[in-house]
Amino acid sequence: MKLHPRCDRTAAWAALSGHFEAHGRDFDLRAAFRQDPTRFEWLSFEAPEVFADLSKNLLDPASLKFLLDLAQECGLPQRRAALLAGEPVNATEGRAVLHTALRAPAGEGSHSSQVHEVHEVHEVLNAMLAFAQEVRDTEHSGITDVVNIGIGGSDLGPQMAVPALDAFAHRQLRFHFVSNVDGHDLTPVLRSLHPQRTLFIIASKTFTTQETMANAHAARNWFDAQGGKDRSRHFVGVTTNLKAAAEFGITRTFGFWDWVGGRYSMWSAIGLPIALAIGPEHFRALLAGAHAMDQHFAHTPLSRNVPVLLGLLDVWYRNFHHYTSRSVAPYHQGLRRLPAYLQQLEMESNGKRVDMAGEPVPYATSPVVWGEPGTNGQHAFFQMLHQGTDVIPVEFIAVKQPTHELSDLHQKLLANCLAQSQALMEGKSAEQALAERVPTAAPTFDRGVLSRHRTFPGNRPSTTLVLEALTPRALGALVALYEHRVWTSGALWGINSFDQWGVELGKALCNDLLPRLSSADTTGLDASTAGLLQRLRS
Ligand code: F6P
Repeated sequence: MKLHPRCDRTAAWAALSGHFEAHGRDFDLRAAFRQDPTRFEWLSFEAPEVFADLSKNLLDPASLKFLLDLAQECGLPQRRAALLAGEPVNATEGRAVLHTALRAPAGEGSHSSQVHEVHEVHEVLNAMLAFAQEVRDTEHSGITDVVNIGIGGSDLGPQMAVPALDAFAHRQLRFHFVSNVDGHDLTPVLRSLHPQRTLFIIASKTFTTQETMANAHAARNWFDAQGGKDRSRHFVGVTTNLKAAAEFGITRTFGFWDWVGGRYSMWSAIGLPIALAIGPEHFRALLAGAHAMDQHFAHTPLSRNVPVLLGLLDVWYRNFHHYTSRSVAPYHQGLRRLPAYLQQLEMESNGKRVDMAGEPVPYATSPVVWGEPGTNGQHAFFQMLHQGTDVIPVEFIAVKQPTHELSDLHQKLLANCLAQSQALMEGKSAEQALAERVPTAAPTFDRGVLSRHRTFPGNRPSTTLVLEALTPRALGALVALYEHRVWTSGALWGINSFDQWGVELGKALCNDLLPRLSSADTTGLDASTAGLLQRLRS
């Protein structure tokens, strides 16, 4: 593949810098809306299942043009083609990255070179869905509780999607997710279980992860101690390491492949809890939604390509406005674990400081991604979003149709969602604040000073994503949108979004410290670690 220049060495980057200094720093959203009545039309976009309003972002025609130029100069279309063609773009691990093959229809690939992978994918998918169907027949299976034991990518996807799709879920099955190597995670879950009615899924790509293996062994011991019979019916594995699963004593295993990154794996057999919850037909709809987004990402011109536009916006905010974080506010309680899911997807993918050649990059990469469902976040940290010293772009996710009957609550939820992005943008001047009556203020407090406390600067950017309903298909499309958006910013930064070497050092040091907790040997440790180790032992 042709070598493309580093993003900060392109003409477009220079143009963006110049434009930011001349117009970006002082850009005013309120004025932009006043001056251009068509702003919402040209800055809102349709992708499969997702409508994206980008108009409340600090963008003007020139910044958007330069960002699209940047994408071209950095070879985004060629890089996207390499990704989808299954080239080993995860070079530091010598692997292709083919999560798109996990949701391609049988007989197709998102690229012709994926046909072989897609065939294998469908074999496992069919077996996994047939098993899910068996278990969902609870009268025959006798299963009432499913416990997924896994961490990171082997946990966060199902843990996010199962509550998100609660409206579609089997009513006789309860789902539990155990990830932490803290007995406070597993213990309360086990308390409510009966071994003969429980299915444990041991989910681990490598089947070596300390946390997961420790919890899996503890669960197996509990099962035996409780008089559990027929372990092979009650423990299934999801892994690429079939040998290790067999050694653990698991006879029923659903495999996947090294070209599926952990944080991109909820479409594979890692999605088994989702399939158990919503059933085969809805699981296929989830995949179809993601596939529809893949098609949008692969074929829509960059100027209307929603994941690409969001990725470009991330670069604009991170590298020119120097915003350090982005807050995600899903206005749907079912999406309460989406921020945690996105933290791994984005920060494990793009939290990198060297480019593909191993050279330190002189610009910022992944922002901090965080959030809580609205309206809860409004009563916690939104104070800072509105009046704090940092500007933090917010991403609102609104769902038009609820799946409950409480329409009055839903109207209030939607009004809150709209009000927050409006308030962030409009703000409130000191004059407006002064003109207001303040019933609760201390009578002696200077009104002028008080009005300054009650001022909102406004001009704070946000994106609003709208789903018609939170269906399996829509959730699939939404998550795939985020995957491609993360890839876009990572590709522009020239980093490898698909490795995660940064988690290794802590793992190795933990292996060294574990025996020291018993032996009290502090040889070679720094004074702080040695002191803490002694303290935790005593
Ligand atoms: O935290 C590092 C990591 O490797 C993640 O990338 C991965 O999702 C998680 O650990 C779990 O790994 P495994 O599925 O192999 O247990």
